[in-house]
Amino acid sequence: MTDRYAVFGHPIAHSKSPQIHAAFARQTGEDVVYEAILAPLDGFADSVAQFIATGGRGANVTVPFKEEAFKLAKRLSPRAQRAGAVNTLSFDADGILGDNTDGAGLVADLTRNLNQTLGGRRILLLGAGGAARGVIEPLLDQQPAALVLANRTVSRAQELAELFGHGITACSFEAADAPFDVVINATAASLAGELPPLSPRIFTDNTLAYDMMYGRDTPFLSFARTHGAAASDGLGMLVEQAAEAFYVWRGVRPETTAVIAALRQDRLESERLASPRGLRT
Ligand code: ATR
Repeated sequence: MTDRYAVFGHPIAHSKSPQIHAAFARQTGEDVVYEAILAPLDGFADSVAQFIATGGRGANVTVPFKEEAFKLAKRLSPRAQRAGAVNTLSFDADGILGDNTDGAGLVADLTRNLNQTLGGRRILLLGAGGAARGVIEPLLDQQPAALVLANRTVSRAQELAELFGHGITACSFEAADAPFDVVINATAASLAGELPPLSPRIFTDNTLAYDMMYGRDTPFLSFARTHGAAASDGLGMLVEQAAEAFYVWRGVRPETTAVIAALRQDRLESERLASPRGLRT
């Protein structure tokens, strides 16, 4: 029998996850279907329960339910525990297991697809919300020379720095004004079409600027390009976190390069037809 999976979010209509998982299923021969489910803002747990009752085997969780999914899970993987959020649920006889593949997805995109060495490099992470928190531990695992957390509300960055212990410095956007090798935008600013007040001095010709948002160019990426940096959106992270979730559920690791290329091609075509919308995992 075909195994059912789904992504829960609100909104969800623009999610690319069904397309990505359909490609993984075709490629690996796994007998799965994957749908997008719009959960009511006050009805996430009920939607998940209904999905389980009708044979659901696992699910991805996106905005705004990742913290709720964390609370819903009976058991948590160590990386979900540290991230404080869950984007991947597995359902079995023992109940709901929560995992988080976002950080692994980001690191896979940076290291495998964008050929970045993170060990010994200086990394600046912008933002101190759920998206930033979810990627701190996997970035630290790469043993960067420095991980600096800059946020509009500095106290939130300080709290995260304390939570994760040594190796992280917290500051304001304005105070980060030395060059970095990799600058990752995990703020929600791009979703609003805004640019955090960054110093151009953080960018050099050797910097990679990475925006976790995908779907359209962002003020952050164009600012970085203007100051000499290479720029990447978060489409690769989206596909890599999906591949990691597929691996968690099926024990098979899909190949991602062709899937990322196909989505980029779709984006070029949709840009010709209309102005695309910015999204995040
Ligand atoms: P998410 O799950 O997307 O991380 P969040 O937990 O609400 O959502 O966090 C949003 C992050 O984006 C925060 O770091 C927020 O800064 P504050 O902590 O100061 O609120 C940041 N953010 C949102 N809008 C921003 C903007 N226009 N400029 C800069 N930072 C912004």
